[in-house]
Amino acid sequence: MSTTTSQQAGPGTAVVSVRDLTVVYETEQPVTAVKGATLDLHRGEILGLAGESGCGKTTLAYAVNRLHQPPARIASGSVTFHDRDGGDVDVLALADEELRRFRWAKLSMVFQGAMNALNPVRTIGAQLDDTLRAHDSSPGRRARRERCADVLTRVGVDPGRLRSYPHELSGGMRQRVMIAMAMLLEPQVMIMDEPTTALDVVVQRDILREIVRLRDELGFAVVFITHDLPLLLEISDRIAVMLRGEVVELDTAQNLYRNANHPYTRKLLGSFPSLHGERGGFVRTGPTEESEGLR
Ligand SMILES: Nc1ncnc2c1ncn2[C@@H]1O[C@H](COP(=O)(O)OP(=O)(O)OP(=O)(O)O)[C@@H](O)[C@H]1O
Ligand SMILES: [Mg+2]
Repeated sequence: MSTTTSQQAGPGTAVVSVRDLTVVYETEQPVTAVKGATLDLHRGEILGLAGESGCGKTTLAYAVNRLHQPPARIASGSVTFHDRDGGDVDVLALADEELRRFRWAKLSMVFQGAMNALNPVRTIGAQLDDTLRAHDSSPGRRARRERCADVLTRVGVDPGRLRSYPHELSGGMRQRVMIAMAMLLEPQVMIMDEPTTALDVVVQRDILREIVRLRDELGFAVVFITHDLPLLLEISDRIAVMLRGEVVELDTAQNLYRNANHPYTRKLLGSFPSLHGERGGFVRTGPTEESEGLR
């Protein structure tokens, strides 16, 4: 293992290993939403997770975070978190209390549709403070306030907004607040499930730029989930493609763009208009000089 003190321990060091994970919804007609998924998330990388609606992206993310609820059941497989601070954590075996300490602090999640998940009757500051206080070694009031102001500033929201209620913020700002909340305890991994799809393209791009910059600065790993493959080609180091519950492709963004193995990935790539057919918005043709700039 690397001896570096930063979270960026060099390419290829796994921070999360998923092995042969199968998740079934035990409904009247059981649905195997994730089938034998195996993948590593490398320390400090942005791993894009793509695939059409219903292919199991959210189910996989929930299972990795142990957030799945009945009727979802993990039928087989393992999830291991390789803690920078030493030791491996068998996530699926964590007791409730251990799980409470693990979530947010080691691995956090920005949920699909999260910008509507804030409590409407509590200020942003109170909600960030709740997350801080819920964890051990919670600092004193003044230090907590400073930490909340600091994370808000980092995601581009004026710390004066700590006193605001969610309805006083735009959708983009609320989403930034959710990202700030996920960063609050300096986790080594952040899973972001469609964090920007509800936002307009300009706001989306600003937030993505912010996420990439924060990753560069702080070195956490990101799993970025979306069905928008071209967007993933821009921001991801590696991309996993899911199809009907299976991870059918996992490669660097460049390799995947140039040389996709699976016919489904090729179809996904082929179904997007080229740069020349697009006006504004995201670059639609894969990693380019512009996307290097974004990264
Ligand atoms: N609570 C549930 N009960 C039963 N089946 C479910 C439940 N949640 C999801 N499923 C099924 O599991 C499969 C995977 O769903 P999941 O939400 O993980 O897909 P997804 O890739 O995140 O889709 P999207 O892009 O629309 O968010 C789908 O077939 C879905 O119908
Ligand atoms: Mg989903």
